[in-house]
Amino acid sequence: MTTFKDAIINRRSIRKVTKNPAITEDRIREILKTSLHAPTSFNMQSGRVVVLLDGEHEKFWDIVKETLRARVPAENFDATVQRLAGFRDGVGTVLFFENQATIQSMQENAPSYKEQFPFWSHQGSAMLQYAVWTALEAEGIGASLQHYNPIVDEEVKRTWDIPQEWTLIAQMPFGEPNEQPGERSFLPFEEVVTFHK
Ligand SMILES: Cc1cc2nc3c(=O)[nH]c(=O)nc-3n(C[C@H](O)[C@H](O)[C@H](O)COP(=O)(O)O)c2cc1C
Repeated sequence: MTTFKDAIINRRSIRKVTKNPAITEDRIREILKTSLHAPTSFNMQSGRVVVLLDGEHEKFWDIVKETLRARVPAENFDATVQRLAGFRDGVGTVLFFENQATIQSMQENAPSYKEQFPFWSHQGSAMLQYAVWTALEAEGIGASLQHYNPIVDEEVKRTWDIPQEWTLIAQMPFGEPNEQPGERSFLPFEEVVTFHK
């Protein structure tokens, strides 16, 4: 049984993942059900999640590859392809969106916070992303957080029939871990945290 503390400490960016039939749609569904307990501003629940599995997941990373082909200098493209293969070889990808229609209606209902809602939307999405990432880790599933938005947005919307008002925020490819994360450094605790009493 993984404790909450273990899951927080052990969650890392695993940028090379592979297939494992034991990582089933049902397990991912349960992880997402749990993660949707993450809080949102005013409980507005503006997050929307699309899970791509198998061929659809591979299609997403092919879209990223073809989109980048036109943008990355030819001499760097091999490295890009290698990096993307680390994601594509995995089981699936979670796409995190924010529904701008929700944000707009919150702005109309609470106009004094109008300017804040776009920030709170991103903060809510980040909490959901973190919950999913940490819950995946607790199940021994490797994941990383990627941002190929906005350059892939149009094709993603077209391919998976995504409503126009959903904004793509982040992509989380996951699968069987296939690399050991390197050492991670931390700022001194006292530089980050102060107590007053
Ligand atoms: C808001 C945010 C954006 C990130 N964007 C990317 C990204 O686009 N690509 C990537 O490979 N990692 C991305 N990361 C992962 C960070 O680089 C990573 O979490 C950090 O270096 C700490 O390493 P760890 O995740 O292994 O603990 C992002 C992390 C956060 C919190």
